[in-house]
Amino acid sequence: MYHSGAINRNRIAQRNTLTSFSPSSARKLEHPQAIGETGMRLKDKIAIVVGAGQSPGEGMGNGRATVLRFAEEGAKVLAVDNNIRSAEETVAMAQARGGECAAFEADVCNEKTLAAMADAARRRWGRIDILHYNVGVSIAGGDAPLDEITEAAFDRIAAINLRGAIMACKHVLPTMRAQRSGVITMISSVAAWEQYPNVVYKATKAGMIAFTQQIAIQNAEFGVRANVILPGLMDTPMAVDTRARASGKPRAEVAAARNARVPLRHRMGTAWDVANAALFLASDEADFITGVALPVDGGALVHIN
Ligand SMILES: NC(=O)c1ccc[n+]([C@@H]2O[C@H](COP(=O)([O-])OP(=O)(O)OC[C@H]3O[C@@H](n4cnc5c(N)ncnc54)[C@H](O)[C@@H]3O)[C@@H](O)[C@H]2O)c1
Repeated sequence: MYHSGAINRNRIAQRNTLTSFSPSSARKLEHPQAIGETGMRLKDKIAIVVGAGQSPGEGMGNGRATVLRFAEEGAKVLAVDNNIRSAEETVAMAQARGGECAAFEADVCNEKTLAAMADAARRRWGRIDILHYNVGVSIAGGDAPLDEITEAAFDRIAAINLRGAIMACKHVLPTMRAQRSGVITMISSVAAWEQYPNVVYKATKAGMIAFTQQIAIQNAEFGVRANVILPGLMDTPMAVDTRARASGKPRAEVAAARNARVPLRHRMGTAWDVANAALFLASDEADFITGVALPVDGGALVHIN
């Protein structure tokens, strides 16, 4: 189902004012760039970001930050989410920065809605240059260690994290192959490569890497690139607020414990770190990069290499 969105370059004066919904996190999450002040590294590219809203909580999610970075750099972005209100908030923020962005409601568990998503981008803009798959759940989907995991939780998380990613590619790749160009970026997790107790997240995030490598090699001759980002400990609502709610601990305590585990500066990354990596991979600067799994983790994985 389509929702509003249009170029609004008259709002350039407003565009640097929106960094986060939370004043307390604005300093850390501030990202001052906007259209006209950057290199327009995605000028006129058509991007679909799946999981473009964000979980409730403080600060900025990875998907939302990615939409904003893509829009700032000149992409026209379809902001896809099953929470359409959250996607519309993202669209409003992108438009306030002068970007062209539209919200689209789709549930990644329902293939038909992903087919409709790809159709919507093609109908509106005539092509698809970038597919960015950000949706992912663990604890919120009922994930658990092996002795507690249920079939229902497995089915739900696997459908969201892995089947949805595969189905999104299924409906976008024919267009990219016909264009003989396109970029797919998956959001996995360092959990794929380091110890992580909740089994479905671990297995599905590892599966995403294998799948990405396969589509990279199968589509290389068509000029389509596919890469996967492995975020580490990030300061996002999904990671911090969800854990605080689940454990009953204050957010600050959960955040401090996560900060302490990060080798680089003992500080979590932010959604902008993931968004900037995604921007690079989606841009022509990464034109010879495909099949890569890129940790964005402040050195977390160095310990096991
Ligand atoms: N934050 C971290 O520390 C961290 C670490 C490693 C990996 N990641 C990965 O980053 C990604 C998400 O980060 P985020 O901060 O944007 O999370 P988020 O929860 O804020 O955003 C995900 C979005 O996906 C949407 N969504 C959920 N289920 C959906 C469905 N069935 N159909 C369509 N949309 C759906 C949600 O509504 C939400 O807007 C995930 O893939 C996650 O595994 C995060």
